[in-house]
Amino acid sequence: MNNITYLSGKEVSDFVYRDIKKRIRLLDKKKIIPSLAVILIGDNQASELYVRSKTKTFKKLNLHSKIFKLSETTSEKKILNLIYEINKNSYFHGLLIQLPLPNHIDKEKVVFSINPEKDVDGFHPINAGLLSVGRPNFIPCTPKGIMKILEYYKVNLNGKNVVVLGRSNIVGRPISILISSKTKYANATTTICHSGTLDIKKFTRNADVVIVALGIPGFLKADMVKNNSIIIDVGINRIKDQSSKGYSIVGDADLLDLKKKTIDITPVPGGVGPMTISMLVENTVESAEKYCARSSAG
Ligand code: GUN
Repeated sequence: MNNITYLSGKEVSDFVYRDIKKRIRLLDKKKIIPSLAVILIGDNQASELYVRSKTKTFKKLNLHSKIFKLSETTSEKKILNLIYEINKNSYFHGLLIQLPLPNHIDKEKVVFSINPEKDVDGFHPINAGLLSVGRPNFIPCTPKGIMKILEYYKVNLNGKNVVVLGRSNIVGRPISILISSKTKYANATTTICHSGTLDIKKFTRNADVVIVALGIPGFLKADMVKNNSIIIDVGINRIKDQSSKGYSIVGDADLLDLKKKTIDITPVPGGVGPMTISMLVENTVESAEKYCARSSAG
C-alpha cells in the first residue's frame, strides 16, 4: 500500500502562471517588458544550473533576462560597481545575485547594495524588515512559493504545529515569519530548529507540518514524523549515481524510509523548485508594475 500523497509544485506553478501571464499582457499593452538582471559569480555548477533554468523560463514567457557572468576572482569593488550600474539602469526591473558568493566577497555588503526597489529576491534588509513587520514588499521566492503550495492544497495552518528545519535568510527565517503571522492560511504555532537544536526529533514528531530546508540529503526519516503530517521538502541536493547524467537530484527527506508512514509531501524534483522560479517571475512582474505606477505618478 502506498501511503504517500504528493503535493505537486509543478501543478501549482502551472496554475499561478495563468495569472502571471495576464499581468504580463497588461504590461505589454503599456510597452513594458519585465526584465531581470542576474549576476553569477564563479563556477558553482548548481548555481549555473539554477540560473539557466530561471532565464529559460523568462525566455519562454517572452520576458527579458541577462546574465552577468563574472569570474571567481572578481574583486568586490567590481561587483559593487556592476550593481551600481544595474541599479540606475531603468531597463532592468529586477536584480538577482545568485548565492553563494566566493569567500573573499562580503555577502552582506553586496546584498545591501541592491536597490530595494529591484530586489526581487527580497534579501535586502529593507525588504526583510518590511516582511517581519507585516508590510511585505518583495517576499523571498521560495517561502512565497511554499505559501502558494499550502494555499492551493488548502492546508490551513491556523492553530497547527509547524516545525521549520533551518534558519537561513533565504528560506527558514522568512517562511517562519510568514506562517506565524496572523493572516489567512497562516497563524501557525511555529518552531525553528537548527544546528544548535539538541533533539530535533522531539519537535518534528509533534509537528502537523514539517518544512525542511537544511540542504542535507535524506535527513528527515520516518521515525521523526507522525502519521498524517505534511512535509514540505525544500532540499535540492545532487547525489552521484550510475545514471547517464552521473547524478540525481534528491531532497532533504528520505522518501524511501518515509513510505513507512502516511504523509503528504512535496516531491523533489517537481515540488518547491518550480515554485521558486514562478515566484521569481511574479516578483519581477510585480517590480515592473510598481515601476510603471511610479513613472505614471511622476
Ligand atoms: N541560492 C540558493 N537559492 C537562492 C535564491 O533563491 N536566490 C539567490 N539569489 N540565490 C540563491
